[in-house]
Amino acid sequence: MTESLLIKPFRTSARGVAQVPGSKSITNRALILAALAEGETLLTGALFSRDTKILIQALRTLGFVIVDDEVAGTIRIQGNAGNIPVKEGSLHVGNAGTAARFLTAFLALSHQGKYAMDGDVAMRARPMSGLLNSLASSKTLAYTAEGKPAQAFPFVLQTSGQLKDLTVDASASSQLLSALLMVLPQRAGATVKMSGETVSEPFVVMTERMCAQFGRPLSRDAEGRWFCANPGAYISPQVYAIEPDATAASYFIALPAVTGQGSCVRLQGYQPKGLQGDTAFAEVAKLYGAEIDYQGDSARVRSWHNLRGGDFDFNQFSDTFLTLAALAPLADKPTIIRNIAHTRKQETDRLLAMATELNRLGVKVEPSPQALQADASLSSLTIYPSRDALLKTAQRGPTSIHTYEDHRMAMSFGILGSYDLLGDGTPWIKIEDPGCTGKTFPRFFQALEALRSSFVSIAIDGGAASGKSSTARAVAQHLGLMHVDTGAHYRTLTVGLLDAKATPSNLASVEKALAQFKLDSVLSGFSSRCVLNGKIASEAEIRSPEVNAHVSAFAALPAVRNYILNYQRSQVELARDAGFAGLIMEGRDIGSVVLPNATLRIFLEADAEARRLRRSTEGQADSIAQRDLLDSTRAAAPLICPTGAVRIDNTKLSLAEVVQEVERLIAPALAVS
Ligand code: CDP
Ligand code: CDP
Repeated sequence: MTESLLIKPFRTSARGVAQVPGSKSITNRALILAALAEGETLLTGALFSRDTKILIQALRTLGFVIVDDEVAGTIRIQGNAGNIPVKEGSLHVGNAGTAARFLTAFLALSHQGKYAMDGDVAMRARPMSGLLNSLASSKTLAYTAEGKPAQAFPFVLQTSGQLKDLTVDASASSQLLSALLMVLPQRAGATVKMSGETVSEPFVVMTERMCAQFGRPLSRDAEGRWFCANPGAYISPQVYAIEPDATAASYFIALPAVTGQGSCVRLQGYQPKGLQGDTAFAEVAKLYGAEIDYQGDSARVRSWHNLRGGDFDFNQFSDTFLTLAALAPLADKPTIIRNIAHTRKQETDRLLAMATELNRLGVKVEPSPQALQADASLSSLTIYPSRDALLKTAQRGPTSIHTYEDHRMAMSFGILGSYDLLGDGTPWIKIEDPGCTGKTFPRFFQALEALRSSFVSIAIDGGAASGKSSTARAVAQHLGLMHVDTGAHYRTLTVGLLDAKATPSNLASVEKALAQFKLDSVLSGFSSRCVLNGKIASEAEIRSPEVNAHVSAFAALPAVRNYILNYQRSQVELARDAGFAGLIMEGRDIGSVVLPNATLRIFLEADAEARRLRRSTEGQADSIAQRDLLDSTRAAAPLICPTGAVRIDNTKLSLAEVVQEVERLIAPALAVS
């Protein structure tokens, strides 16, 4: 048990990029599919938790080459085209259900393999027999230590490498079916049929869609059998972006319901048509009053209009019912949450736990906790809102919420506690054992805290190859800022000006071309990209030797600088609107001209030789000394270290060290007392 945590209500709006971890279900499926693929796959946004680490370790034991970077959230995995390098070994799956099921089916692909498999005590009690019985029909057999057929962990798996007409009883867990579906395309002619009742549909659909994303779509015949019409090793998508966990995201969809006007929280990579069934929560939240819209592949949640009670069926996305239930005491009318009987057998009896804790806050619920205790078949909850009742309880001091070792109880009440009920920032909710969020979201309370930030603008200036772009990009990702590379603006204009046959020495030609230009921005990850006349110039185009040779001469012209100044300043509003915690803009005149009132101004420098070396290491044909001279001697907005800027000489610093130093400087500005 960790010590209890007093939740500090938000007295201001919430703002910033929610630091939601990657989805566990997608991370573990992607690991299996990438291992079975031909070629290398880079997984981005991956979850690093106990369960995913177990699967990574097991794959390494089986001979797969995997390079993971927890800080960057990436996993690089070398696929082996459907072959498993190690034919004999021991694997321990802890209490990781997905690893246990997925690995067992995966190992069945090994020709004449022999694997000793075990798990934690809890795992030994979890369902495996549906999968083991199914594989037995293709001569992959599981034995106990005594040599008898095994129905659960531990067992020795003797594999045949074949997959034929499989039938699986997956009524105990949809993972038993998903495990088989993922290996199905590896053997021509193999089929899988389900016996017994249907299982959790959204997770099976997730598996099917991911098989298709890795190039081997599954089909179903008239009898409901799955098969792959085009079998073979999976095809690596090269880079595969793992969606943020949709259940975890529900807390940050809910947060702007209880924080100040003007709240705007950004969920990078959150899509309504994503792979996770729990994204349905966004639709319910909208009915309840949430203000959600989508920008590219990301969602933006602003202050909710109101909180409208109502009648909701949470059967298909029940992990998120607690999130709504915790908002219900603040709604305008009662909230009914239906069809959640199965949640009574999860981490705890969630229905009873929620009813009990709402009661503790003075909120009336039906059925009452006593009635729920008496009748295990009750499957819905009605919550009657009453601010007066909450206030009455709060006046006696903070209420301690029991969390029953359930991460979702802790996170849901963390959101309710963020509401400034007493109007003066006094805490009124205390969470017992906040460490229980570690199961899926170890840094939940830090992520919540990070949204209590004020908007910052950071200006970074410096000469060529002083590290501006690399530093700004990394800082933007870590702190949830929007990154703007103004060098790319000048480079994009240069591409357009060269196309229009304008020359720096012929001002009229430049002005004529500029009059035909229209600039826009699109968001790509954490960066704002410049769009010229509807087109984003490629990296190759804007960094060509020809552009390198002309950009500084064009950039020295006041006509060009004036043309782009308002566009650059408008990026501040773009970042604010999109819900970023601020923006970080880099160039030559940002602290001096574009954003002279920036929250923090930084000047990066490195000696000329170091910078020349960096550029030549990148293989760029670029005379940076010449550009530096032009940039620092021009009359209009020359490259200077703005007064009051913090100078960082990074000649002898690594990129990581510069990033760390810049983040240290920004931290106090982001924090709101
Ligand atoms: O990456 P590197 O530092 O070499 O150059 P960049 O940031 O892409 O900028 C290319 C050129 O645009 C610079 O050499 C400057 O001439 C111009 N520039 C500018 O004048 N003012 C800025 N704020 C940014 C770039
Ligand atoms: O944007 P700017 O031209 O100022 O520089 P950059 O493109 O961010 O950095 C140029 C190269 O120097 C990149 O390959 C960086 O990884 C590298 N670099 C470094 O080696 N050490 C630093 N302290 C900063 C950057």
